[in-house]
Amino acid sequence: MLGVGGVIWLIVICAMIYAARSPHGEPGEDGLLQVSDATHHAMERVVVGAGIVTVVVLLAFLSYDFAVGEALAQHPNRALTIDLVGHQWWWEATYEDPDPSKRVTTANEIHIPVGQPVQFKLRSADVIHSFWVPTLNGKRDLIPGYVSSQWFTADTAGTYRGQCAEFCGLEHAKMALYIIAEPPARFAAWLAAASTDPKPPTDPTLRYGQQVFMSANCAVCHTIGGTQAMATVGPNLTHLKSRRTIAAGTLANNAANLTGWIVDPQAIKPGTLMPKSTLQPAELQALIAYLETLK
Ligand code: CUA
Repeated sequence: MLGVGGVIWLIVICAMIYAARSPHGEPGEDGLLQVSDATHHAMERVVVGAGIVTVVVLLAFLSYDFAVGEALAQHPNRALTIDLVGHQWWWEATYEDPDPSKRVTTANEIHIPVGQPVQFKLRSADVIHSFWVPTLNGKRDLIPGYVSSQWFTADTAGTYRGQCAEFCGLEHAKMALYIIAEPPARFAAWLAAASTDPKPPTDPTLRYGQQVFMSANCAVCHTIGGTQAMATVGPNLTHLKSRRTIAAGTLANNAANLTGWIVDPQAIKPGTLMPKSTLQPAELQALIAYLETLK
C-alpha cells in the first residue's frame, strides 16, 4: 500500500512540475492569457483522465478494505473463540466449545494461549462499551443488539491490562479487565481446571457458608458451578479465587476486600447493581470462608 501511495504522489508532483514549466500561451489584447483550442482540449483530457484514475484508485482501495475486513472477521486459524459481553460495569467471558457442558464462563480476567490467534465475539448487555487492551488490540465497540468481532495474537506471555474505552455510565472508569497470555500448555491446564466444578464443602463452617450463599440474595444473581446457583445477572463465581481482582479490576482479591465489597458495594462502586448486604456477622464470616475456597 505504501508503494502505491508513493507512486501516486510521484505522479502528482511530476504533473505539477510539468504544468509549471510548460508554455501557457501568449497575453492577448485584453492582457489575459490566450490558450489555443488544441491546448485547451489537451488540458481537458488531463483533468478527465486524472478524475477517472482517482475514482479507480479509490474503488480499488475500498474493495481491498472490505476484503481485509472480511478476512479479519473470518480468521480461519483461530485457536479459540471467546464471547465477551459488556455489562455495567464488568466483563463476562465465555469460551466457546461445541459441547455446552465444557463451556467456561468467567469474568474480568481472560486467559489466552500465547502465539495463537484468538477471536473475540463482542456483545453488550446494556449500553455501548468498548473493548481495549492497548498493548494487544485496537478499540472495538460492544453494541447492544449487534455482534462484532475482533481477533488478535499475544506474541509475548504476560498480563495485559485493558479498560472499557467508551463512556458507559457512572462507573465506566472502574470497568477494567486483564488478558493473561500464557504458554499453550499452561493455558490448557487453566481451561481444564476452569471447566471443573468445585467439590461440595464438607467442613461445617464452609457448608454453612454455602447455605448462606444460597438463601441470601447471592444466588439470585450469581452462578457457582455444581450448585443450585445458576443466575447470570452478576459475574460467575465458580472459580472466584483464581482471579486477581474483584469488581472488574477495582480491588485486589483478598478476604478483607471481599468482605468490604459484600458489606457495602455501593461505597466502593456507587451505582453497581449489587445491593448492600444485610447479613449477620456470623453469616458473613462463614460466607467469606466458603467463597475463599472457590479456587
Ligand atoms: Cu463500559 Cu465504559
